[in-house]
Amino acid sequence: MSKAVIIVGSSRKNGNTTKIVSEIHNQLLVDVINLSDYDFSYYDYESKNRADDFFELIKGIIEKYDTLIFATPVYWYTMSGIMKVFFDRFSDLIRIEKETGRKLRGKNMAVISNSHDSSIEDDFYLPFQKSAAYLGMNYLGHKHFNADRPEEIQNLELAFI
Ligand SMILES: Cc1cc2nc3c(=O)[nH]c(=O)nc-3n(C[C@H](O)[C@H](O)[C@H](O)COP(=O)(O)O)c2cc1C
Repeated sequence: MSKAVIIVGSSRKNGNTTKIVSEIHNQLLVDVINLSDYDFSYYDYESKNRADDFFELIKGIIEKYDTLIFATPVYWYTMSGIMKVFFDRFSDLIRIEKETGRKLRGKNMAVISNSHDSSIEDDFYLPFQKSAAYLGMNYLGHKHFNADRPEEIQNLELAFI
């Protein structure tokens, strides 16, 4: 069975995304990594940030998990800033750490989003779907939660876990 991890990217640690993911963790016993616990900076063309936490973090994830589930709030119609910074750093895996990048091939990606609406447009997931395709990952699907309806997180079944 493939081992999954939820990678949380939100601007606050005890906010809606964390609450939803904690509930998923409790119900489905899936591992959780919070990007706020790590120190990594914007993509740098000169790679001066190669000693920050990004490489250790992504290498650990690749080593241990087959399914990467990205959990993000909707911020201005797209993923959170910290999640986008994390995705931008994938460029390092194509340029200076190719061997690590190649290990993403064949792994799975899924997305959990939340906002104060019960549904969002499918376009929201396009950057994830396209990034998965580019990296050679399988895009398994996504699920949106309304942060104001905690009852939506009861008796969860997530197709991609
Ligand atoms: C900077 C920012 C931008 C937001 N933009 C949107 C938006 O475009 N659409 C929307 O429905 N909600 C938007 N929201 C609301 C969040 O999606 C919602 O409050 C979410 O549950 C926040 O999760 P968090 O507590 O993990 O940050 C925004 C919130 C913030 C802080």
